[in-house]
Amino acid sequence: MKLWIKTFSKTAARLLSTGICILCICRRQKQQLSTKSTYQALLDSATKGKDSTKFQILNEATKVPLLAEVYGIEGNIFRLKINEETPLKPRYEVPDVVTSKPRTVRLISSSGDAGSLVLADGKGDLKCHITANPFKVDLVSEEEVVMSINSLGHLYFEHLQVPLKKRATKENKEDTSVDTSQENQEDLGLWEEKFGKFVDVKVNGPASVGLDFSLHGFEHLYGIPQHAESHQLKNTGDGDAYRLYNLDVYGYKIHDKMGIYGSVPYLLAHKPGRTLGIFWLNASETLVEINTEPAVKYTLTQMGPVAAKQKVRSRTDVHWMSESGIIDVFLLTGPTPSDVFKQYSYLTGTQAMPPLFSLGYHQCRWNYEDEQDVKAVDAGFDEHDIPYDVMWLDIEHTEGKRYFTWDKKRFPNPKRMQELLRNKKRKLVVISDPHIKIDPDYSVYAEAKEQGFFVRNHEGGDFEGVCWPGVSSYLDFTNPKVREWYSSLFTFSAYQGSTDILYIWNDMNEPSVFRGPELTMQKNAIHHGNWEHRELHNIYGFYQQMATAEGLIQRSKGKERPFVLTRSFFAGSQKYGAVWTGDNTAEWSYLKISIPMLLTLSITGIPFCGADVGGFIGNPEAELLVRWYQAGAYQPFFRGHATMNTKRREPWLFGEEHTRLIREAIRQRYTLLPYWYFLFYRAHVAAEPVMRPLWIEFPKELNTFGVEDEYMLGSALLVHPVTEPKATTVSVFLPGSNEVWYDSKTGTYWEEACTVKIPVTLDSIPVFQRGGSIVPIKTTIGKSTGYMTDSPYGLRVALSTKGSAVGELYLDDGHSFQYLHQKQFLHRKFSFFSGVLTNSCADKRGHHPSKCVVERVFVLGLKKQPSSVTTHSSDGKEEPVVFTYCTTMSTLSLEKLSLNIGVDWEVHIK
Ligand code: NOJ
Repeated sequence: MKLWIKTFSKTAARLLSTGICILCICRRQKQQLSTKSTYQALLDSATKGKDSTKFQILNEATKVPLLAEVYGIEGNIFRLKINEETPLKPRYEVPDVVTSKPRTVRLISSSGDAGSLVLADGKGDLKCHITANPFKVDLVSEEEVVMSINSLGHLYFEHLQVPLKKRATKENKEDTSVDTSQENQEDLGLWEEKFGKFVDVKVNGPASVGLDFSLHGFEHLYGIPQHAESHQLKNTGDGDAYRLYNLDVYGYKIHDKMGIYGSVPYLLAHKPGRTLGIFWLNASETLVEINTEPAVKYTLTQMGPVAAKQKVRSRTDVHWMSESGIIDVFLLTGPTPSDVFKQYSYLTGTQAMPPLFSLGYHQCRWNYEDEQDVKAVDAGFDEHDIPYDVMWLDIEHTEGKRYFTWDKKRFPNPKRMQELLRNKKRKLVVISDPHIKIDPDYSVYAEAKEQGFFVRNHEGGDFEGVCWPGVSSYLDFTNPKVREWYSSLFTFSAYQGSTDILYIWNDMNEPSVFRGPELTMQKNAIHHGNWEHRELHNIYGFYQQMATAEGLIQRSKGKERPFVLTRSFFAGSQKYGAVWTGDNTAEWSYLKISIPMLLTLSITGIPFCGADVGGFIGNPEAELLVRWYQAGAYQPFFRGHATMNTKRREPWLFGEEHTRLIREAIRQRYTLLPYWYFLFYRAHVAAEPVMRPLWIEFPKELNTFGVEDEYMLGSALLVHPVTEPKATTVSVFLPGSNEVWYDSKTGTYWEEACTVKIPVTLDSIPVFQRGGSIVPIKTTIGKSTGYMTDSPYGLRVALSTKGSAVGELYLDDGHSFQYLHQKQFLHRKFSFFSGVLTNSCADKRGHHPSKCVVERVFVLGLKKQPSSVTTHSSDGKEEPVVFTYCTTMSTLSLEKLSLNIGVDWEVHIK
């Protein structure tokens, strides 16, 4: 039995059991492919436009012409677009994701051998080698074929057709591109699919597209979130394909390739010496199959007495299939991981610079009951000396789930409540979902109704579905006018009871439709521009977060950075805020899977991500909760959250010892705040992931490629959270040759790559600092980040084998856009060479005076006891420093320093 049939039957069985069948596109594509009808490129008639080279592609059976366009894009990116040359009506092309029009570069064309065309970038290092018959594209870098497109012949393009009923002419009846017999139509879901009680009537008929990519020499692929799966993508040969279809899946299954809340149709392939990216810009339901053929060595014995050996490189084939739209694919050619991150961010943007408070700890629950409850929980943090920054209110804070309103009984005076939080320099986040209760007396509904701002059903009325408030309509965020109007709802005058410390959480925006097919919207619902929902399903949530972020910016007249958390996302969502992994469960396995899930998001452009600490569903035992806080403290978005009917689980409810452990974990988060902020700055300006799989930092070391139980925070810290119950040891892999790693807690160090068994107790958070790094920290923790603006800094200097180290600090006001418009920021560089620690300016464009001092310096790995330590200011002043040196641990500690963070100085250690 062919593998695809197995794939199909396993997935289909499960889907059919839920009343759903998604695999018609898969089946159709496979059936067509088995007929081996091929495509031919008509290269003789290729034309060169200003931006692209165009040529026709013809399917030998259908003869329907496709138009291919190849673009060279600045930064070593190629774009291949394939569409019908003359579709019956326009096909959906995903707008608003690619930031501004990417600058194209001229490709120089030459014809290769007969029947081929070569398009080279200016330098000639990168070439697209196009073969006419059968149509194939090879991406060649420095004379090596790194990727082939359609070499397996999986190009598939269902051209739009006149519906069977309307076909009167003989000519149309002779169309052989698809089998139109009634029987087959039903079977293959061409014009209509039935899922249980749902009927998906497809006015445009079959419109799917597909294409294969062979990655030569690659065995390690990552990306295409969101799945509760391992970081490294698995072969799908004898299982399910990865599905990209945004769905609300309460307590989703682990190690599953079914789609959950968000999708980024982008994957990375990595091998020593090269990283590649494939960004498949399509927002309809998409399936991705992966198949790796490992490297094999053949011994050719037929060749006479001496056996000849031949090595065949490994190869991974990736097969993308989307339900509709066009083929629009960006090939990111690297060659390094950081080049690929830059290339992808050039297309989709970088992480929005988050306000500082959002890097602190967030306290959420469905629900904090009323103002009293909020007050008591807020006070609990102070009583137990636990810092936190943000209180969250879930749906119950509203009047009957009417967003932008307040339940008058529970929250009679929302401004008073916000003042309470403001006084502690804390913030409030409230929820705002995309469904709008059908209630003519609810002004948001009435206005949207009047203006025609809702998604429509295929009969032309407003789409109605059930969600939290009961029967609701759904705002059509794909319409720029709706987004503009929605943004305006966040102005202080429109949003009664809101203040400038209130920020937003967009939930249920897949969109979630109770009692809808797979709990979402019917695919034949209609959006702005008359586009069917099927065309753009995966981008709906992206648009809501976009409009919300814009609204928060506008309410501050463009001055303040927004904070918006979204559950559903798409490529580019990073521009609008943070993402979390939805409704996880309070079980150890969910704690464990949070690491690969967040790593995958991080490398696909979404660094500001987190998982509900404690697990949303169920009641974690104290040990699990502690371990989750410890892990969460070292993940980018750090929020405790729990569903209704779970036991209360504020950090102080599990006895003194557990309270202490949670306090300590959260305090570690706040200690490292300057480092977190710097990492987010780098994500914002240079597309560097905050949380990084080891292979990014050690791209040549094969043994890092599959690691997903530990990761790097920036390039300096390696974190290995404890994710097993009753753990007494953890096996930590310390990668890299010529590296030295220091245990952040004990100062113990290891040289050379090794796996070490670290003894752990419940208060251990295994974190290791990489030799050669300097990590800025705060030495005093406040009630919230707002209290820490002027608090002193410390520098943790971890020396490399050569006795040197470098690090950076980025500082600004933490909330406005002044860093951008007025260059009000401070960017400092620290270095340690030949016994001299230097603080110097890293970016002269910035100015942001700070009162803060460096009060402590801790040096790890200083092999020789110093005889003197002195500070030197830029005006030549020299002062002695009292120091403590530990011979056994080779550490040096300098305390009670008073060196301004923002000016040049040196510390000489002799
Ligand atoms: C589903 C979200 O995933 C969860 O976090 C939230 O608490 C509930 N919706 C209620 O709003």
